Amino acid sequence: MTAQPNLEDTLLSPFNLNDMPLRNRVVMASMTRGRATNADLVPTELHVEYYRQRASAGLIMAEATWVSEHAIGSINVPGLFSDEQMAAWRAVTDAVHGAGGRIHAQVGHSGAVSHPDFFEGGLPLAPSAINPGLQAFTPHGFKDTVTPRAMTLAEIEATISSYAAAARNARRAGFDGVELHSATTYLLPQFLNSALNQRTDRYGGSPENRARIVVEIVAAMIAEWPGGKVGVKISPAASMGGFAPTSESVPTYDHLVKGLNNLPLSHLQVVRAPKVDAGGPIAAIADTIGYYRARYRGVLIANGGFDAATGAAEIAQGRADLISFGRPFISNPDLARRFAEDLPLSPSDGATYYQGDREGYLDYPPFTPEAAVNA
Ligand SMILES: Cc1cc2nc3c(=O)[nH]c(=O)nc-3n(C[C@H](O)[C@H](O)[C@H](O)COP(=O)(O)O)c2cc1C
Repeated sequence: MTAQPNLEDTLLSPFNLNDMPLRNRVVMASMTRGRATNADLVPTELHVEYYRQRASAGLIMAEATWVSEHAIGSINVPGLFSDEQMAAWRAVTDAVHGAGGRIHAQVGHSGAVSHPDFFEGGLPLAPSAINPGLQAFTPHGFKDTVTPRAMTLAEIEATISSYAAAARNARRAGFDGVELHSATTYLLPQFLNSALNQRTDRYGGSPENRARIVVEIVAAMIAEWPGGKVGVKISPAASMGGFAPTSESVPTYDHLVKGLNNLPLSHLQVVRAPKVDAGGPIAAIADTIGYYRARYRGVLIANGGFDAATGAAEIAQGRADLISFGRPFISNPDLARRFAEDLPLSPSDGATYYQGDREGYLDYPPFTPEAAVNA
């Protein structure tokens, strides 16, 4: 049996992220929690408290925010496109910094995985007019997605500009960096997917063309915020309903990573799939983290079902620089301490992941022996 890697030398060791010191390598992954329950999609005092509670992470990736009104695809998710939203995010970043933490914004666009209910009956925008066959969480409950409208070139240009504006807003709101959401089922993975992107212009038809919009967006964001402040999150092996990788996925992401290698990023965050079919179209990336570690030259954050032992091993083996944890942070605000002291983890309640008020959001306490006994 191989010895367990020491947490102090791995997950709990400090890290220098492009001249920004992190106190440990335990990153909180972005999680949409649906608590911006107001018409203007402004973060509230609940957000301030939620992120303050989790400031002992080495780095927090805040929940996905919309880059514009066209980007909306789920209820009560905050934006980063209005002055009011920016001011409210400033309260969040101040609270995290006051507690000695670091926080990046995450910016995204839902593309086809939205619903006309968000656009007064208008169609969501997407790479092509192809229904992804998923559901969107609308003000009237979960509804099936529809056939979206293919973006014009002018709309693609406007979308790129909206990401650049969101990067500018993130900087002005006091974030320490900004991550581009190019993961799960959002607009950019739609462009990267050959079944959903059937364009015949320079944004579709070849691996290079499918990857182009992401590279252009990252470059536009870096122009707004240089100095290694812009990161990217990808999930090349993700599969959800009708949204599945194709035989074009690996070459498309290869092109994307090649493009990203030429840009001064903060990091690349890679989500691994629980299981990749050995005989399937993406068998080459069955070891998703290892595959992209070998190809991406900068800081790599590994994500997807890690715990303290597997995260520490990933760092010890040089396969990742930082590990991000999603669901464990919902119910364990003091996750780094629980790892450090080998304390039990509290379970989370899936019913309050995407909706609710304080319950299931602010009422998971840091570890106390009493809470452990009552759990
Ligand atoms: C409630 C919830 C909301 C999520 N929202 C986002 C999001 O806004 N942006 C994002 O990139 N990923 C989102 N994810 C995915 C997580 O960031 C992470 O990639 C995933 O949960 C796998 O990590 P884990 O196994 O440590 O939970 C979400 C996951 C959960 C459970």
